[in-house]
Parts: sequence; C-alpha cells; structure tokens
Amino acid sequence: MRTVIVFVAAYVIAFAAASGDEATIERAKSEESFACVQCHSLRIVHSQRLSKTAWTKEVDKMIGWGAPVRDRQLLIDYLSEEFSDAKPMPEPDRSKDGTKRSSIISDPAKAPALKD
Ligand code: HEC
Repeated sequence: MRTVIVFVAAYVIAFAAASGDEATIERAKSEESFACVQCHSLRIVHSQRLSKTAWTKEVDKMIGWGAPVRDRQLLIDYLSEEFSDAKPMPEPDRSKDGTKRSSIISDPAKAPALKD
C-alpha cells in the first residue's frame, strides 16, 4: 500500500513539474508575441540557432532598439532552450535565388511547416 502511495505521489509531482514547464513556455511565447513581432515576423527569430550568451546579446540589442520586453530573463531562457545552437538548423524556406519555397523544390512531406 505504501508503495502505491509513493508511486502516486511521484506521478503527481512529476505531472506538476511538467505542467509547470508548459505554463512557463506558454508565458514565454506570449511574451515573445507581445515584444518581438512589431518590427519583423517570428520567423527571423525562430530560424536562429544561438547560444545563451548570443541570445542574451540579441534580446538586449532588440530591447535597445525598442522591443517592449517585460520579462527579459524568461524570454532569454525560452529562446536559448528552444532555439539553441545545439539544435539542428531549420531548412531554409526559400531556394537560393529566393523565388521558390522549399516545400515546392523538395519533398513536401519533409518540408518544415511555415508557422508564423
Ligand atoms: C523596434 C523594432 C524591433 C523589435 C520590437 C524587435 N526587433 Fe528584432 N530586429 C529588428 C531589426 C530592425 C532587425 C534587423 C532586420 C534585418 O536585418 O532585416 C532585427 C533582427 C532580429 C534578429 C536577426 C538577427 C539580427 O540581429 O539581425 C533576431 C534574432 C531578432 N531580431 C530577434 C528579436 C527578438 C527576440 C525580439 C523580441 C524581444 C525582437 N527581435 C524585437 C527590430 C526589432
């Protein structure tokens, strides 16, 4: 019986931790769409793969240019986690001459979704 309680408790704690992360990511995304879309689309942000140091400089540069960031640290943590230089670069969504979308020139099934 005690084992069952321990398992249930572990499950509840693990679930709470995971949903906490979800909530943090959601908050960071809404911060991003509040502060980072006035001058350019999010594609220019999401196509980067940077270290935490580089994301810190990038966010500070954008703040210097007028980005209305309310929670700087949240945004830096989110960007350096989701768009880290340890992750593979996304496929370019234009051909080299800029005339065609990669979904047209390569296998559409493998083309990245254009989100923003
Ligand atoms: C006041 C306008 C403005 C806001 C707000 C803004 N940016 Fe930018 N951003 C720019 C300009 C201008 C460029 C350069 C665009 C270009 O080179 O075509 C740029 C480019 C970028 C780049 C490409 C790399 C670079 O430095 O050129 C990234 C990444 C970026 N912004 C991230 C962000 C993030 C993250 C936010 C939100 C915190 C943000 N931007 C908000 C103006 C802004």
